[in-house]
Amino acid sequence: MSEYVLGLSCFYHDSAAALLRDGKVVAACQEERLSRKKHDAGFPSRAVKYVLREGGISPEQLDAVGFYDKPLLKFERMLSTYIATFPRSFGSFRKAMPVWMKEKLWVPSLIRRELRPYKGPILFAEHHMSHAASCFLVSPFEESAILTVDGVGEWATASFGVGKGTDITLFKEIRFPHSLGLLYSAFTYYLGFKVNSAEYKVMGLAPYGKPVHFDRIMSEMVHLNEDGSFKLDMKYFSYDYGLTMTNGLFSEFFGGPPRKPETWMTAREFDIAASVQKVCEEVVLRMVRYIHKETGLTNLSMAGGVALNCVANGRVIRETPMKNLFVQPAAGDAGGAVGVAHYIYNTLHKRPRTEGWTHAYLGPEYEDDEIAGYLDSRGIPHQALPRAELLRTTARLISEGNVIGWFQGRMEFGPRALGGRSILADPRDAKMRDTLNMKIKFREGFRPFAPSVLADKASEWFDIDCDSPYMLLVAQVREGKRTIPAVTHVDNSARLQTVTRDESPLYYDLITEFEKITGVPIVINTSFNVRGEP
Ligand SMILES: [Fe+2]
Repeated sequence: MSEYVLGLSCFYHDSAAALLRDGKVVAACQEERLSRKKHDAGFPSRAVKYVLREGGISPEQLDAVGFYDKPLLKFERMLSTYIATFPRSFGSFRKAMPVWMKEKLWVPSLIRRELRPYKGPILFAEHHMSHAASCFLVSPFEESAILTVDGVGEWATASFGVGKGTDITLFKEIRFPHSLGLLYSAFTYYLGFKVNSAEYKVMGLAPYGKPVHFDRIMSEMVHLNEDGSFKLDMKYFSYDYGLTMTNGLFSEFFGGPPRKPETWMTAREFDIAASVQKVCEEVVLRMVRYIHKETGLTNLSMAGGVALNCVANGRVIRETPMKNLFVQPAAGDAGGAVGVAHYIYNTLHKRPRTEGWTHAYLGPEYEDDEIAGYLDSRGIPHQALPRAELLRTTARLISEGNVIGWFQGRMEFGPRALGGRSILADPRDAKMRDTLNMKIKFREGFRPFAPSVLADKASEWFDIDCDSPYMLLVAQVREGKRTIPAVTHVDNSARLQTVTRDESPLYYDLITEFEKITGVPIVINTSFNVRGEP
C-alpha cells in the first residue's frame, strides 16, 4: 500500500500544500493561485483539497501531516524580542497578539479541524530544516552542502549544513535579529516597495545604479565575519520592535526619509538598491566559500527567500568553488510544505529518496473540454489545433510581434512562470519590453523580462555553462549576441530559464519552431499575473 505524507506551510506568507506518494511529490500548490489573494498566508484549504484530489485520496488515507515550522518556538522568539525592546515594542505587540491567540498557537487543532476525519500524527520541523529538506532531498545530489537564508524562521535567519543520503545536519546558524533577508527587506521598505513581496524589484533596480554606499554599509551597518556570519547594528532598524522596518537613524544614514510608494525614482534610489544588492551578494559569497571550506563539498543546495536572488546565485556559480548548484524553485516559504513532507518521509522515516526534481510543473491542470467550456461561457472565440500546427502558428505569431498567452499542462510550483502559465513574446524587439510593461502587465517600466532559451543553445547566447531550469540564475548576454534587447537588462545581464525537451517537450518544441523562423532559440517568458495579482 502506498504511503502518503502531506506538507503544509502557512500563517506567515505564501501558504502552500504538498503531497508525497511513496516519497515522490504528486502535487504542490500555493494557496494564492487558488484563492487569488497575493501571498495568501491563511490555512491552505484550497491547496490541500487540490493536492488530495490529485493524489486520489481523502484525508483519512494520509499517513502523516507535517507543518513547516515550530509555532511555539517562533512565539517564544517574538515574546523575548518584545520584552527586550519594551516599551518601544508595545504597538507591534498589540497588533500581533490577537492573531497568535486566535490561530497561530493552535495549529494542531486547526489542522485537525481542516483535515477531518484525519487522526494520524501531526509533526513539526524547524523552519530552516524545512527549507534545507526542500532543496537537498529533491536535488540530484547524493551528498551536498546546504545553505538556507531567509528573513527569519523561529530564531534562525540562515543555516549552514550538509546533506548525505537521507540525513541532514545543520551545523551552524545565524539568529534573529541579524538577518540578511530582513536587511534586504528593510531596504525594500525604505525604497518604497512592499516588504516580503517586492524584494525582486530592488534586485531589478540595482543595475541602474552604482553601489556607492557599499563601503559605508559594510563598515557601519553590517559587521561581516570571515565565516559569513554577521551582526547588524540594530540601531538603524525597527523591525524587531516596531511596525516599520527602518527608523530615523537609517533615514539619516541615507540623507532622507523612505521613498513614498509610487513616486518617481532617481539615481539616489538606484544607488541604494545597487548598494544593498552588492551587500547581499558579498554576504552570500562569503557564506558559500565558508561552507565549501568546512565541508570540502562542491555541490550546493539552496533555499529560503534569499535564494531567489538570482544575481547572487549567478555569482555563486561563477566565483566560488561550488561546481553544481540546486536551488529549490519555491525557495520561499511555500517550498517549506514540500520540505517538511520530505523531511518526515526520508529523514525521519528513513525511506530512500526517489530521483531528484527535473521540473516544477506540480500544480493543477485542465482538460481541453474544461478550457473550451470556460471560453464558451465568456463568449471568447477559440479554436483547437493539432500539435504541429499549434507550434507553427504560435511561433509565427510571436515572430510577427504578437503577445501570446501560453497555458499548457500543469501549473508551476514557485514564483516563476516556466512555460506552463506564461505570456510569450519576441525578444528581438526592443519596444516589446515597454509594450508588455505598460499595456499588458501594468507594471514599472524599469523591470526587465526574462528569456527562455533552449538548454542546448544557452551557452552560445549567454555566459553560462550549467542549466537554469527554474529561472534562478543571472548570466551575461554574450557580446556577439546582443540582438535580444527585450530580455537584456541595462548591465547586459539576463535572468534566464534553460528549457530541455525532457522537462517540457511542448515548450521546447515551440521555441525550436521560433528558432526555425528567426534564428533565435529564445522567447520572452513572463508570468500571467498583472501587477498586484498572484
Ligand atoms: Fe523562510
